Amino acid sequence: MVSFAAWATLAGVLALNAGPMREPDDHSFGTPEHVLVNHLDLTLDVDFAAKVITSEAKLAIERTSQDVSQPLVLDTKGLAIQSVEASADGKTFAKAPFALGKDDPILGQSLTISLPEKVHSVTIRYATGPRATALQWLTPEQTAGKQHPYLFTQSQAIDARTWIPLQDSPGVRITYTARVKVPEALTAVMSAARLPNRLPKGEFSYEMKQSIPPYLIALAVGDLEFRKLGPRTGVYAEPSVLTKAAAEFSEMEEMVTACEALYGPYRWERYDVLVMPPSFPFGGMENPRLTFASPTVLAGDKSLVSLLAHELAHSWSGNLVSNATWRDFWLNEGFTVYLERRIMEAVYGKARADVEAVLGKRSLLREMAELSKPDQILHIELKGRRPDDGLTDVPYEKGALFLKHLEAVYGRVPLDRFLKAYFKRFAFQSITTATFEKYLEERFLKYGIAKAIEANAKEWLYEPGIPSDAPKPVAEALTKVEAHAKAFAAGTTAAADLPAAKLSTQEWLHFLDALPADLGNARMAELDKAFSLTKSGNSEVVFQWLLLAIQHGYEPAYPRLEGFLTEQGRRKFLKPLYEELVKTPAGKERGIAIFRKARPSYHPLSRDTVDGILGWKE
Ligand code: BES
Ligand code: ZN
Repeated sequence: MVSFAAWATLAGVLALNAGPMREPDDHSFGTPEHVLVNHLDLTLDVDFAAKVITSEAKLAIERTSQDVSQPLVLDTKGLAIQSVEASADGKTFAKAPFALGKDDPILGQSLTISLPEKVHSVTIRYATGPRATALQWLTPEQTAGKQHPYLFTQSQAIDARTWIPLQDSPGVRITYTARVKVPEALTAVMSAARLPNRLPKGEFSYEMKQSIPPYLIALAVGDLEFRKLGPRTGVYAEPSVLTKAAAEFSEMEEMVTACEALYGPYRWERYDVLVMPPSFPFGGMENPRLTFASPTVLAGDKSLVSLLAHELAHSWSGNLVSNATWRDFWLNEGFTVYLERRIMEAVYGKARADVEAVLGKRSLLREMAELSKPDQILHIELKGRRPDDGLTDVPYEKGALFLKHLEAVYGRVPLDRFLKAYFKRFAFQSITTATFEKYLEERFLKYGIAKAIEANAKEWLYEPGIPSDAPKPVAEALTKVEAHAKAFAAGTTAAADLPAAKLSTQEWLHFLDALPADLGNARMAELDKAFSLTKSGNSEVVFQWLLLAIQHGYEPAYPRLEGFLTEQGRRKFLKPLYEELVKTPAGKERGIAIFRKARPSYHPLSRDTVDGILGWKE
């Protein structure tokens, strides 16, 4: 008889021959279990007049199953495919038959390419289409300098396929090179190392040697300049923004060093940040070697740099160890929020990190109350849905809370040791929630069954709600602020008597958030007069204030509301403000009037979101 152990070993060996175990990805047509893409050579020609990228993508591929009849299946969305060639040796290419599948509104179209038995690479010539949601083409007026156009990509979660035909699954990792041609006055930057090749003006050459998931391929083209911050850190921005950006991010090198001390070496050589035009739909995007950041984080006083800590932390959680499918998104974001706060603690002190943790949990509890039970689960079901549906506080804040809970159960030092080992063990791999769970069990088994029960991983990962023994972060500073908000709302404190000068940005946010929606306009005016909130230059503060202003119908803030909704396109700000506006008929009318003007300058992602809120039809 064959023992169970022997069977298990045998099964393990068989699994190995079949390539790494893959969880199916509901958001990709690809069949990497048969034919796998592992490298990409891109040639891009960026045409601002036509708003089209014409491109040649050469994909290095390998068979991963015995079945040599299997074709190569790629993801595409709106691409105009011009030709496809395949090669057995990477030298001689012959036309390969191909077919585009049925168009799915979320996933796009599969591109199925027939292959010879022996394969080495495939070359696809194509052009991007008008609905390439990864691309935003900006007119000169939409930039800081107003002189040159600008283009940037945003590939996460499943939009890489709108500019590159690929196996667009985070479970498929590739290395890449790119040759980019742009107008002579402009600079192209990518999530890769710039090669020092001598090239004609307007041509750039990039290489990413570390394997990454396709959602991390990124390009930006504009009138860009660079300033060095530290030995391996720097900032890119339009010339007029550069000085402000460099001042705001002056602690970047220190953040990298702090994270390395906690979780092991920084594996990407350089860490630079590109400050985006204001229509960038996110606060930040962790493109490897080159974070893209919204200019709305340039508060002038470093009060919003936790965003930088967040995107930097993704260099470990997300980019080095990536979620294998979008169901596992919490592995990226929950870990990253936890790391972000550890960086903030190391560089700015515990009080600051605690405040962010309290605000995070508060936001989570509030959002959780509105979410369906299935959407409260870390390992979320997203089949048939957009991965964006999973973009709630659950992966971010519930995920981070789970790690904080593990910290409480096992101790900070053992958890840090675990995380450091985790990043080393799974470096440059994409993993699922189940793989994480198994590793957690293995590493913490030695602490015994009682601790395992206390860790309660199954409930955290697979059940809705927040377990009753979840950490309860507290920050003394915020408790005080709540008391001030209460006293002000009750009328026992006047605005002039609030200790406003001493409040940090985060305390201000909490104060405004703790105010009721029925203060009355006289008290709103009193606050505004005392603290010039309508004129605040801090995007987070003005956002929180404008929410209150809409709730109160506080007219003096309306011009600023219109300005704020027109001048920047960060979805996190647009969504709640428009949602607040549509709650009343007058508000909805105002929202529509503003949107009519602002819509052309919004990014497609933000535009879609607001279209939905306002029921807008073109
Ligand atoms: N990777 C995310 C942004 C993202 C997620 C884009 C999913 C597309 C799909 C990024 O790291 C992020 O989380 N950004 C946050 C900021 C952060 C401090 C919470 C944002 O943009 O608000
Ligand atoms: Zn993130």
